[in-house]
Amino acid sequence: MRTKISALSLSLTLLVAAAGPAVAQKPGEIVRYDGKSVVRVEADDDAERKALSELRLRLLGECLRHDGAEYIADEEDMKRLREAGLEFDVIVENLQEQIDAERARIEANNALRGVSWYADYKTLAQIETRIDDLVATYPALLTKQSIGQSLDGRDIWAITVDAGVPSDAPALCFNGTQHAREWVSPMTVMYILENLAAGYGVDPEVTACLDSVKFYIIPVVNPDGYLYAWNNDRFWRKNRRDNGDGNFGVDPNRNWDSNFGGPGSSPFTGDDTFRGPSAFSEPETVAIRDFILARPEIVAHIDFHSYSQLVLWPYGYVNDVPADPDGAILETLGTEMSDSILTVHNQYYVPQPAHQLYIASGVATDWVYESGGAFSWTIELRPANQFQGGFELPADQLLPTAEENFEAIKQLAISVGSRARFSFAQGPPTLLQTDVAQQVDYEVLPIASAQIDSTTARLFARASGEPSFTMSPASHLGGVDYQTALSSAVCGSTLEYYFEIETISGEVYRSPTDAPASFYSAEVIDMNFAFADDFEADLGWTVANVDGLSEGAWSRGLPLGGGDRGDPAADFDGSGACFLTDPADGNTDVDNGATILTSPAMDASDANSTLVYSRWYSNTAGSAPGEDVFIVEVSDDDGANWTTLETIGPTGADTSGGWIERSFLVSDIAGVSNSSTFRIRFNASDYGEGSVVEAGVDQVQIVTMGCSGLACTGDLDGDGSVGSADLAIVVGTWNSGPGAADFDGDGNIGSADLAILIGLWGPCP
Ligand code: ARG
Ligand code: ZN
Repeated sequence: MRTKISALSLSLTLLVAAAGPAVAQKPGEIVRYDGKSVVRVEADDDAERKALSELRLRLLGECLRHDGAEYIADEEDMKRLREAGLEFDVIVENLQEQIDAERARIEANNALRGVSWYADYKTLAQIETRIDDLVATYPALLTKQSIGQSLDGRDIWAITVDAGVPSDAPALCFNGTQHAREWVSPMTVMYILENLAAGYGVDPEVTACLDSVKFYIIPVVNPDGYLYAWNNDRFWRKNRRDNGDGNFGVDPNRNWDSNFGGPGSSPFTGDDTFRGPSAFSEPETVAIRDFILARPEIVAHIDFHSYSQLVLWPYGYVNDVPADPDGAILETLGTEMSDSILTVHNQYYVPQPAHQLYIASGVATDWVYESGGAFSWTIELRPANQFQGGFELPADQLLPTAEENFEAIKQLAISVGSRARFSFAQGPPTLLQTDVAQQVDYEVLPIASAQIDSTTARLFARASGEPSFTMSPASHLGGVDYQTALSSAVCGSTLEYYFEIETISGEVYRSPTDAPASFYSAEVIDMNFAFADDFEADLGWTVANVDGLSEGAWSRGLPLGGGDRGDPAADFDGSGACFLTDPADGNTDVDNGATILTSPAMDASDANSTLVYSRWYSNTAGSAPGEDVFIVEVSDDDGANWTTLETIGPTGADTSGGWIERSFLVSDIAGVSNSSTFRIRFNASDYGEGSVVEAGVDQVQIVTMGCSGLACTGDLDGDGSVGSADLAIVVGTWNSGPGAADFDGDGNIGSADLAILIGLWGPCP
């Protein structure tokens, strides 16, 4: 947004040069897809990519990824694919049948009374009616304005959501439907609009957002194209420009003045990514440009597309990211949105710089960042791929998609609303080792050009039960980096703490935002690691490949696959390495068998031993999603007998990637006992055809936690007697789950524990 960098040499030009065949539908024409299929073509190297692009098939997807893509193909096209030696899977046999079925379903659903507006896709007219209804329902919050007309003279509507914040309060801008066939996009944006309005004064989080920021929402940027996709061609992408040579349409998302004309945009009028004759040649992009330029208070923007489940940030036209702090902010807030999305329905949207996917020039997100004065992201909505519906996302997923993205934008609003964003690489600590000061590294990112006074960074902490917090200064390490230490207290107590910093004009920002009403808590406990592996060194894990496994064996290393095909882009604990089903780049998922990763013997003999590990599993990134399982087993007899601890998949939770941390008290696991020769093993398999299976394991530990050094039960502060200081610890950790004061071991601290403490009052025996 602040600096403009020149385009570097681009190696991916080849990949994106010819993005499609002529798609030249004339105004009245109805385009049918009888006898057409959707194929997924694998293209793993430059030669294959070149051969594929020369066939000029019509791309059916947002993503011309490095390893292939989905195309519309008839018998003739498939013959040409075979002749070119390219491998492909047929995903949809008769596309027209699918389109007809979708239309019949939409009509049936929309004829029902009393169902949610989000039960199925909506026409342009229905969207416009809904906008008017919402504006009429929430007149104090919503105003609607036309921000320009499309080529065919349709209004482009922007709705302002403003609860009366000061005129210079930061604002967020969201738009949908640059692309006509991405029908989940306006639905999601409408849901955001509606729930911001409906939540004000009702939902505390929404209310807090709207008390500090305002929103500008543009559900449909490209109304002409959207209408055409409903009435004439379900897979129309562009606007409806008559290019004068029999071809129609300019791709709005190649028409922005950010490296306009560069790689990843087509000069051919018939192509789906035709960029237009010049930057901002189209009234639709001009309208959004002028709207944003006229509102310098806009500090964050999201352009909603479908499909692929991605959160992307600049740059898209070059293999680079903006310098810090901007680069760090884009990444931190982008990753945070992905994390928020995951919490709602367990769907993983890969967060990454846009160019990592493929290079594209003239894209909105790059322009808004470079020239529009705002941080900007592209969110590619559900589904993850064509196998799960592509642009024709099943209707029952519209609401969940909207819900998870609503969570993301609330998170974004909270972040930009506070103007100073605290970011903890490992999260604020929740456990402290007794008598060990724990270093905390964190970043404070200035949002909306806030001027942070780095000398004001400080920590406030207290032992729970104490009436007030004590301040200690934090050190500024340079740039956005800060460091402080949490000094630990007696075993069994809880430390409560928060962070604070000021801008040069004296505005105070805290983490958590509403401290000291809220604060972070860390339990102080004796932690002993009988085993701890971050996979930076070889601690003796073994790999067995069975049933004819041909690819994707477990191997220890850095994740190099880029995170775009079900694999993680980074390890879990930030150390770098982890175990993966082949960490290399390219098509390296598990194929044709199983690969089993077995730990060395670990000492879990202590009755308090807790097993901790982080796992990654995805079976939804390819054809035949949801067919394979990931199995975690444990053994208490050095690997002679195994007990299943978890089976992930074949469908449902945790099957589309994301690092998931798990912990189990060993003595709670049915069928195994505490043992000094405890082992764990991870089994990833792919027995079906065509599935893409990727798995990972990181940070495996056996840890014992407790307050073993205490003189007697009840003596929580270790002073040799049960007294008022111990009572304060019980009260301070009241109803907070397990902890040192959970004397009766029922998993919570409550009246029974208090009774035990009172019963033991006085010196330890
Ligand atoms: N998929 C969208 C499009 O093709 C967004 C592109 C994001 N930018 C990028 N360089 N991949 O318009
Ligand atoms: Zn799109």
